[in-house]
Amino acid sequence: MSQPGGTFDIVILGAGSGGYAAALRAAELNLTVALIDKAELGGTCLHRGCVPTKALLHAAEIADQTRESEQFGVKADLVGIDMAGVNAYKDGVVARLYKGLQGLLKNDKITVVPGAGKLVAKDTVEVDGKRYTGRNVILATGSYSRSLPGLEVDGKRVLASEHALKLDRVPSSAIVLGGGVIGVEFASVWKSFGADVTILEALPRLVAAEDEEISKAVERAFRKRKINFKVGKPFEKVEHTENGVRATLAGGETVEAEILLVAVGRGPTTANLGYEEQGVTLDRGFVITNERLHTGVGNIYAVGDIVPGLQLAHRGFAQGIFIAEEIAGLHPAVIDEAGIPRVTYSDPEVASVGITEAKAKEQYGADKISTYNYNLGGNGKSQILKTQGFVKLVRVNDGPVVGVHMVGARIGELVGEAQLIYNWEAFPEEVAQLVHAHPTQNEALGEAFLALAGKPLHSHS
Ligand code: NAI
Repeated sequence: MSQPGGTFDIVILGAGSGGYAAALRAAELNLTVALIDKAELGGTCLHRGCVPTKALLHAAEIADQTRESEQFGVKADLVGIDMAGVNAYKDGVVARLYKGLQGLLKNDKITVVPGAGKLVAKDTVEVDGKRYTGRNVILATGSYSRSLPGLEVDGKRVLASEHALKLDRVPSSAIVLGGGVIGVEFASVWKSFGADVTILEALPRLVAAEDEEISKAVERAFRKRKINFKVGKPFEKVEHTENGVRATLAGGETVEAEILLVAVGRGPTTANLGYEEQGVTLDRGFVITNERLHTGVGNIYAVGDIVPGLQLAHRGFAQGIFIAEEIAGLHPAVIDEAGIPRVTYSDPEVASVGITEAKAKEQYGADKISTYNYNLGGNGKSQILKTQGFVKLVRVNDGPVVGVHMVGARIGELVGEAQLIYNWEAFPEEVAQLVHAHPTQNEALGEAFLALAGKPLHSHS
């Protein structure tokens, strides 16, 4: 017999970025919240995703800088990578953020329920025989690393990203299956740590969701870094060899390495959770909602990676805040997916907001679009950092900029201004009035807008 666990304004199933953001905003709005999770608060992003991978990428940058220090007149030798030390640093970052998050949730008097929950009625989630009833329910169960049919992830030679994050050694060589975000980030880390890396990507280019010119720039930079990649051929199978793995591509070409990382996307965690039984519509596992993130069933909402679209933590935060405000009756503005900034933290970094040139041509017509590329060769700070890349703007003629696409070291930090420009539908003439500090990489964005407004400073229009 199940027991009552309590009645709340909102019951949230899943305490990752989407779930906990909804909980925090709801508590600010004086709503009572039960936040249910079977694992650590903070979910994939904090424990097995964004945060630990970015710590690895930072350690990778330090390794590269040490290796290349002589270019800057600094004499240093890279003696080696101590993975125990790297992991201790990475785990320390996660632990501090985890502690902070626990404190925030406690302060806000959110009822945290540890355990695996299941939706058993339109307003009830059951956890270990206890029923938590909500005037509203938010489904926030996140995603898992997908594999391919017949490709068994054993965590030893064939890894998913959560295994790759816990490696206690630098592999001598690695095959990265999938040249999307996770693929290029791990390829970048392992190469910086000294491994021989080969990326296998079925589509014709790396980071295929980005603007085509950005893919070309990443490929050029990877070639220079001697990161191998094979694009345009789907992967067929992997076999174990004496010391590692052998991957075969369509057409028969093979690649061998010590390990293989599977980075072919993430699937929504929605099976066996009672969603369909309660009438929630699933499409290939994703929860279908309207633009206000309502499922159309009772007062059930969905947030984050289980909702079709970008699987990004900050989208989860934004959606979580949105739903809490919706429930509180604040009528928040609908989130524009294209206005969500995207950053890939490889070396070089990639950052973008808005739509690609190809998409803009499709949407507005080829003759209605113009683009401008500002090369980082003209940007003082980028020259100091010795990085290459560019800022590309896609503009509707006589209208706002609808896409900002950037590539280069540390360029991800520029996406903050880019997303303001995009989301405020700023005209190049307006942005051109704003003063950018010199010398910053941010100036490259300013210069691109100056050029588009017809008054270039350190470039030709
Ligand atoms: P992804 O969708 O970005 O890339 C997967 C890649 O695998 C695609 O390019 C696809 O064409 C390729 N692929 C699929 N089947 C294949 C096959 N049979 N043979 C060869 N290639 C194949 O997914 P990824 O990189 O696994 O990341 C998952 C999610 O996590 C993404 O949605 C991403 O947004 C998120 N993420 C975000 C990060 C960030 O914002 N910096 C970092 C890491 C992940």
